[in-house]
Amino acid sequence: MPLRPGPDPKIPCLDLGRQHEALRGEIFEAFERVYARTAFSAGPFVEEFESAFATYVEAPHAVGVANGTVALHLAMLALGIGEGDEVLVPANTFIATAWGVSHAGATPVFVDCDPHTWEIDPNALEAKLSARTRAVIGVHLYGQPFDFDAVAGICDRHGLALVEDAAQAQGARYRGRRVGGLGAIACFSFYPGKNLGACGEAGAITTRDESLAARLRSLRNHGSTVRYHHDEIGFNHRMGGLEGASLSVKLRHLDRWNARRRDVARRYREGMRNSRVRLQAEPDFAESVHHLFVVTVDDRDSFVKHLDDAGIIAAFHYPIPCHLQKAYAFLGHRPGDLPNAEAQARSCVSLPMFPELLDQEIDRVIDAVNAFPG
Ligand SMILES: Cc1ncc(COP(=O)(O)O)c(C=O)c1O
Repeated sequence: MPLRPGPDPKIPCLDLGRQHEALRGEIFEAFERVYARTAFSAGPFVEEFESAFATYVEAPHAVGVANGTVALHLAMLALGIGEGDEVLVPANTFIATAWGVSHAGATPVFVDCDPHTWEIDPNALEAKLSARTRAVIGVHLYGQPFDFDAVAGICDRHGLALVEDAAQAQGARYRGRRVGGLGAIACFSFYPGKNLGACGEAGAITTRDESLAARLRSLRNHGSTVRYHHDEIGFNHRMGGLEGASLSVKLRHLDRWNARRRDVARRYREGMRNSRVRLQAEPDFAESVHHLFVVTVDDRDSFVKHLDDAGIIAAFHYPIPCHLQKAYAFLGHRPGDLPNAEAQARSCVSLPMFPELLDQEIDRVIDAVNAFPG
């Protein structure tokens, strides 16, 4: 039975159905194996994925967890970050980057982005440091690595931990090295729409530090390493067996999918010729996996209406920067505080991007972008 009733005449921003129709046999076979062993919570299928994913990101340890948000939370706890501490976080990211800090009892301090790469601006970091700063979370936004060495240099000088939020960047490379293995600790989301997405909710933390990995394994499992012995107040943040099994299947396809995303992005970049539509700057150090293809346009509403008229569905990532979200009103920010992130939020438009996009759909998107009147 097809997963969707029939072809949608509009080009969606993301169509998960196409990928899952193709994978149905492989995934259901993996689910059968989980079912046969009733290994539904953590267990062998999660361990198998953890080992494959650690190898993939070139980090010695991967700890599977329930989602990317708790990955960030546990990373903060494992680094000893808590009440009274401050953590620097980019203002233009999905809000969950900041949740990890808040859930740990610490305070996110939002940092502006570079106006061209839209990633955390290393030059904006030092002005935000205080005696309470303990860490920086850099986000590989839209699948493109941020300037890790520049941020790491500042962290080293000031004795801060550097956490990678790699939720959007499974498989991306920074100066040839996979993200997730660059520094001490990195957090991934396997939300279904990610480049590597589970059939369900899931996440992981990767690390080079064995003692951090051991602490994370305990924290996710009720603060326990020996059954019914609880060394500290822990959480149930385990990954499920069905999610782990689906991820092992999908990991085998990830490089092929990412290559197709790069191909889609290359075609977009080569084909788009409209001075009103700006693209993300791509520094030489970054090999993006194009989780999203975001452009910026001043008159966003008419651009989106124009795309819609051409049968193309766009989205916004993200329409409100973190520092101006109601949830963080207590920090006292005002519009104008972080101008680059605010401009990005006002003007960003995500165009269709997923590996199963057809060549004729890519051409239709390019034609529509180029036909947007100047
Ligand atoms: C940058 C970023 N950080 C964190 C998360 C949180 O991950 P999850 O949705 O798995 O909790 C996401 C995705 O949703 C994300 O895009």
